[in-house]
Amino acid sequence: MRVLVTGGAGYIGSHTVLALLERGDDVIVVDNFANSSPIALERVAGIAGHAPRVHRLDVGDEDGLDAVFAQERPDAVIHFAGLKAVGESVAQPLRYYAENLGITFSLLSVMQRHEVHTLVFSSSATVYGDHQQAPYREEGGPLGAANPYGQTKVMLERVLTDVAHADPRWRIALLRYFNPIGAHESGLIGEDPRGVPNNLAPYVAQVAVGRLAEVGVFGADYPTADGTGERDYIHVVDLAAGHVAALEHLRTREGVRAWNLGTGRATSVLELIAAFEAASGRSIPTRIEPRREGDLAQAWADTQRAEDELGWRAERGIAEMAADAWRWQSGNPQGYDTVPSGAV
Ligand code: NAD
Ligand code: WQD
Repeated sequence: MRVLVTGGAGYIGSHTVLALLERGDDVIVVDNFANSSPIALERVAGIAGHAPRVHRLDVGDEDGLDAVFAQERPDAVIHFAGLKAVGESVAQPLRYYAENLGITFSLLSVMQRHEVHTLVFSSSATVYGDHQQAPYREEGGPLGAANPYGQTKVMLERVLTDVAHADPRWRIALLRYFNPIGAHESGLIGEDPRGVPNNLAPYVAQVAVGRLAEVGVFGADYPTADGTGERDYIHVVDLAAGHVAALEHLRTREGVRAWNLGTGRATSVLELIAAFEAASGRSIPTRIEPRREGDLAQAWADTQRAEDELGWRAERGIAEMAADAWRWQSGNPQGYDTVPSGAV
């Protein structure tokens, strides 16, 4: 299959591009590298033994995207591109709405013009907001998220649903990711956030490697087993496989449908830190801090629909996620900016 991947140089995109190349797909990446490095795709090519074709382009550049579609003639699209920092979205809502909605409208227009009707969309568990109790079931969402970033996912799910209902040729998968962490087992590609990480796993990894001093634990008074927040962490390689499963499913299914991509298991903040301590062999200093505004006590997936319909389930546990994240972080302490040892 010829698959065009927007945001294919990013954290989840790079792992998915690798999974597609490894199964023999012809892969085209469109990325403006606003939040990623071209080195990620060089590494992907190195692991796979062959490279995706890369177009450095803003997805919102509709004329440019039109030319890429005319040249590449993709069969399907996976759409990862977008802004994703929750706190930044609260501070700059207009930028988030304009960017995440605008680039998706451009993409849909170009797809329509070129009669490409198969789309896998990066949604998020954030679309469940706080309207349900864990485990979250697909029937229960989306109902509205707590911040502008999440709200763009809610709105885009709506837009994509309307688009699919208006024209039966569309085949759209809305993939609601829980908390992706970990890295490819090679240690060559992984999560490389710019600036201080917002999310727990990269923060913990950077403390373990000595880039940051200690982990702030945001609340130890939640009604959970150890008082800290519980999440459904999913290995990014399992998540990538979920995209391949969704693409396969769309070969035989028209319309639009949502699937949770999670493990169905909950892990607390302290359990995740302990897993990184075990993986790294280092002690990770922590400090209990007040709850972070907008955080939920618990969030994990009901995974039954993805198992039944996509024939996919996550296989890797927390220990493997921490070990793989640590291999990436320790081998690349400054992410893709790390100067290889031996280089002058
Ligand atoms: P990421 O920032 O690493 O990847 C996004 C990629 O898109 C980057 O390579 C960036 O350069 C590119 N990009 C951004 N705007 C673009 C534009 N206008 N044109 C072209 N390229 C552009 O993020 P990620 O963690 O890999 O997330 C991928 C998708 O999954 C996002 O849509 C995100 O909202 C969603 N998601 C992520 C998580 C998570 O925790 N990482 C959870 C749920 C959903
Ligand atoms: C996990 C747990 C924190 C940092 C976010 C987005 C969500 C989705 C994934 C895209 C919570 C605690 C965190 C820290 C901590 N992204 N924590 N110290 O909040 O579940 O989800 O990323 O769609 O939309 O909201 O993930 O990794 O930020 O937090 O104690 O320094 O770790 O309170 O319990 P979250 P997270």
